[in-house]
Amino acid sequence: MIQTDNVYRDISLRFPSQIIIGKNSLNKLADEVIAGEYSNVLIITINVLLTKLNPLIQQLNERGITVHINTAIVQEPSFFDFETLLNSVINKPVDAVVGIGGGSVLDIAKLLAAQINNDQSLKDITGIGLLKKRNIKLICVPTTAGTGSEVSPNAILIDDADNQKKGIISPYLVPDVVIIDPVLTYNLPPDITAATGLDALTHCLEAYTNLFAHPFIDMYALEGIRLIANNLIKVIRNGSDENARTQLAIGSMLGGFCLGPVNTAGVHALSYPLGSMFHLAHGLSNALLLPYIMEFNIPTAPDRYAQVARTLGCNSGKTDMDTAYAGVAMIRELIEQCNIPSTLSAAGIKKEAIPAIAADAMKITRLLRNNPRPINLSDAINIYEAAY
Ligand SMILES: [Fe+2]
Repeated sequence: MIQTDNVYRDISLRFPSQIIIGKNSLNKLADEVIAGEYSNVLIITINVLLTKLNPLIQQLNERGITVHINTAIVQEPSFFDFETLLNSVINKPVDAVVGIGGGSVLDIAKLLAAQINNDQSLKDITGIGLLKKRNIKLICVPTTAGTGSEVSPNAILIDDADNQKKGIISPYLVPDVVIIDPVLTYNLPPDITAATGLDALTHCLEAYTNLFAHPFIDMYALEGIRLIANNLIKVIRNGSDENARTQLAIGSMLGGFCLGPVNTAGVHALSYPLGSMFHLAHGLSNALLLPYIMEFNIPTAPDRYAQVARTLGCNSGKTDMDTAYAGVAMIRELIEQCNIPSTLSAAGIKKEAIPAIAADAMKITRLLRNNPRPINLSDAINIYEAAY
């Protein structure tokens, strides 16, 4: 039962010191670096953004600031990818790390800022609250409206030893400065816009319906649901709709605030193996499972799912259950309008793989325990089969 009237558990949040939101706010990044008197900046980004970053790099160089650029991260990173990257930069005198990209790029930038000059190994810090400090300035600039990594204390890597996605979760991974520039998302292809937007929506939805939901986080979760539901289709139809792109980016950031103190639940737990075993995009994996896990959870928390439905724009039905199921129908419609695969089979997953996928999902206990209704192995198999 979700806590609604009882005494709430304590939560602790760390926010970025500064969040800059606005069209062309990337232009303010150089001011931040110059004001901080940093002399060696490491930028983690992707190749396609380099042209857009030229003015920034030029501005920094003109002030005598050395800029190192690394574009090695091209997919969801593993422990090995991170260690390789860390070894390539560890001898550089970096005093500020800037991540400009999607969730994988930002996660890696966050971890680099923590691990350059840290005597703790990656293994030492994997888990919750194990990282002891971060000495290097960290600036994050998301270029997708999805992961919320720009404000979250989480970084996710695939462990090469067992192919599991593992979290490094620490308040020291929250960046110092976040720049939300909607212009950077204008050229994002519709399928990536859809998948990342649905990921952000799932962060908010899983936080609001979480077994450990908290009223302070509910505020971010509900507003995030509203902003994403109202703007996702608009930006898929018109990628350069400035107003909608800005609202979507803010919704995604609100989803990021949900990730620290409450976090996600069954959808993310069951979607992780689809990413680690089949390299399905994270947002798409979530979207494939979201309606089915909502249906599974509704009997346990009809009031919460009814509020989700109203926030999505549904009218209240006769009962919370009716309203909640109308919310599932609206989510299905939203996913359909996103024009992405809507079943596991359409996403290329083989049916005979389901038992292995379900067994793998059972290992994601840190998220499964957040789900309002317990999910066991046979539940998971049923959910994957329904989503097939
Ligand atoms: Fe996610």
